[in-house]
Amino acid sequence: MHAPVQHFGSYFPFRSRNRIPVLIACIILSIFLLNTGNLGRFAYRSSVTGGHFPRKIWQSWKVDPLNFEERDLNLARSWVGKNPRYRYEVLTDQNDMQYVETYFGPEGFNRPDIVYVYRHLTAKIIKADLLRYLIMYAEGGVWTDIDVEALKPLDFFIPERYNEKSIDMIVGVEIDEPEFSNHTILGPKSQSFCQWTFICKPKLPVMLQLINNIIIWLDGVAREQNKPISDIELDFDQVISGTGPSAFTNVILAEMSKREGHEVNWHTFTNLRESKSVGGILVLTVEAFAAGQGHSDSGNHDGKIALVKHHYHASGWPSNHHRYSHPMFGEVEACNWNMECVQKWDADLAEFEALSEEEQQKRIAVKEAEDAARAAQEGG
Ligand SMILES: *[C@@H]1O[C@H](CO)[C@@H](O)[C@H](O)[C@H]1NC(C)=O
Repeated sequence: MHAPVQHFGSYFPFRSRNRIPVLIACIILSIFLLNTGNLGRFAYRSSVTGGHFPRKIWQSWKVDPLNFEERDLNLARSWVGKNPRYRYEVLTDQNDMQYVETYFGPEGFNRPDIVYVYRHLTAKIIKADLLRYLIMYAEGGVWTDIDVEALKPLDFFIPERYNEKSIDMIVGVEIDEPEFSNHTILGPKSQSFCQWTFICKPKLPVMLQLINNIIIWLDGVAREQNKPISDIELDFDQVISGTGPSAFTNVILAEMSKREGHEVNWHTFTNLRESKSVGGILVLTVEAFAAGQGHSDSGNHDGKIALVKHHYHASGWPSNHHRYSHPMFGEVEACNWNMECVQKWDADLAEFEALSEEEQQKRIAVKEAEDAARAAQEGG
């Protein structure tokens, strides 16, 4: 007669008179588990403590790698050749939609809003940005743009003093020019992590947050312009701040702040001399992913620290997104973060703006005539 009780007891170390506390504990646990926020937290914790970054390198391009032109093929080989233990996959303009539907449709994360936006977006660069975040959220691994060359094997990307298990994302500094942080045009771009190469474990809340921010932003732009998502028009700065490096950087700083329990801002990464892990997000110095820029003290590609080389040949997109260019003085970005040059640009602009409207028009007309004459001379 005792055997069944004992058997039961081996599963639940409680006697029958203690079943009520067990029941209460179960109810509390259920409520806890039903709270999706806490479920998310569980997923996040397990991904922080669990194992390795997925051994997979991801790219996206118009065509599949068997049809890459020589230049792209050589860069892709730099990744695959140096990392034989990694798998490699390229999403293309033909198979990206299928991928997004599989992972974010009803059989996956069930996010019809994301599938809808991805399907209807026509702005290529926004789509390319969004796709990398979707992949990194769904599966994680190594993201690298088509025009980026691997200089070192991926094993070198995590300095020895870090345990891969205690890190769930790796990013590198791209721009570190805080002296320009108050500049009207350059300010928002003056401090950022790069998103042409970064590494994630899957299902990071920070990636989902970024995706959600983009969906909300695009929805807002479409409403503002009173157009469907497919027809919205975006200028250069909107691309940078909406899906590009600024959006990426801001969401990462916010995530770090959350994980650390206090505000983490760019100050933590200014003049970074050594890689630094903040709340499990490893930040590499500017030379790692963005050497040779001629600004941000980014050095060159010859040193031991440079891990990748960005060739920029796929960066023709700004021409599709209007960039602020003054009729007299052009783009301040052309100064490439040279303080003297930026100060001159600012001073010229201030002087010009103090002129009467009539005088301004006159000078613009003179400049246009000069430019046209020079173009004709060069052309002929
Ligand atoms: C930017 O402006 C703030 C507020 O006026 C000031 O405290 C800060 O020193 C300025 N930063 C730079 C780099 O000029």
